[in-house]
Amino acid sequence: MERELALEFARVTEAAALASARWVGRGDKEAADDAAVTAMRVMFDTVSVDGVVVIGEGEMDEAPMLYIGERVGNGIPPEVDIAVDPLEGTNLVAKGLTGAIAVLAAAPRGSLLHAPDMYMDKIAVGPECKGRVYLEASVKENLREVARALGKLMSEVTVVILDRARHQEIIEKVRSAGARIKLITDGDVSPAVAAAYDNSGVDILMGIGGAPEGVITAVALKCLGGDFQARLYPEGEEAEEEIRRCHEMGISNVNKIFTIDELARSDDVIFAATGITDSFLLKGVRYNKRRSITQTLVMRSKSGTIRHIEATHHPDKKPLFKDERIKIKLDQQQSVD
Ligand code: FBP
Repeated sequence: MERELALEFARVTEAAALASARWVGRGDKEAADDAAVTAMRVMFDTVSVDGVVVIGEGEMDEAPMLYIGERVGNGIPPEVDIAVDPLEGTNLVAKGLTGAIAVLAAAPRGSLLHAPDMYMDKIAVGPECKGRVYLEASVKENLREVARALGKLMSEVTVVILDRARHQEIIEKVRSAGARIKLITDGDVSPAVAAAYDNSGVDILMGIGGAPEGVITAVALKCLGGDFQARLYPEGEEAEEEIRRCHEMGISNVNKIFTIDELARSDDVIFAATGITDSFLLKGVRYNKRRSITQTLVMRSKSGTIRHIEATHHPDKKPLFKDERIKIKLDQQQSVD
């Protein structure tokens, strides 16, 4: 993939973040998501790529845009797989909480795992811990390896876990091992990526979250030299249908543990994320004197370049905001007078 694409993708996540940030704290996660999806879709049309959405907003019949199988970009090669989460953390935006991002990942066609929207058991660490943690190992063993690799005491290791009833057992195991826990309400991509940064306050992410978010995380950690392993987690009444979808998407063994290189089977992957609300990784969208300011992280595994881009946008001049589909949504909110 051309390196210029990285910047193009940054513009796509910026657009989604700018649109959904208008909904921060307004208690309407559907509207926030819809704004992000529309903006991302509109911006994709301007990108020189022949993209197919492999991780998206759902199936064609349930998602009007960015559905799995949808073509994005202007159709000019390279041919790529695209994984999108226009608003990762819908509840976070609805409630004005930290950690929401607009995010996408791209890889050469056929190299990203095609996973249905179901749960996935995950473990994510930074570069120092690469090759030292395993999904099938015990919580204690993994944490001991992380402590050793990072030169920390066990009581200094911080594990991020989604605050869900299903994680009670893992939480107890981490506590009895003597490590610290940071429970999050939503949004496991951002803290998993933060595990690859020094001094982020996150050393490892563990537990069950969304499979689409897992594939996106794998791409990010590939760019950062971190490690990630995951196993799909069919659950409840949907389990049978989820397993059927897995088979349909080419995953014959649903119990398989996927390595980072099996989730993203290329050394030429791109990750882009723009902050919507603040997090360790990225500041959220800010407004100042009719300008909107965004922070974006763009990474390319081939070159290893990690870019943090701060951009100042002038909504009145931006073609994106003149697009009728976006304009209408924003106009609906501009009732200051
Ligand atoms: P949204 O789809 O509402 O943005 O939620 C994202 C998320 O919090 C992911 O980060 C996480 O992997 C997953 O949902 C957890 O799912 P659940 O809320 O069902 O436990």
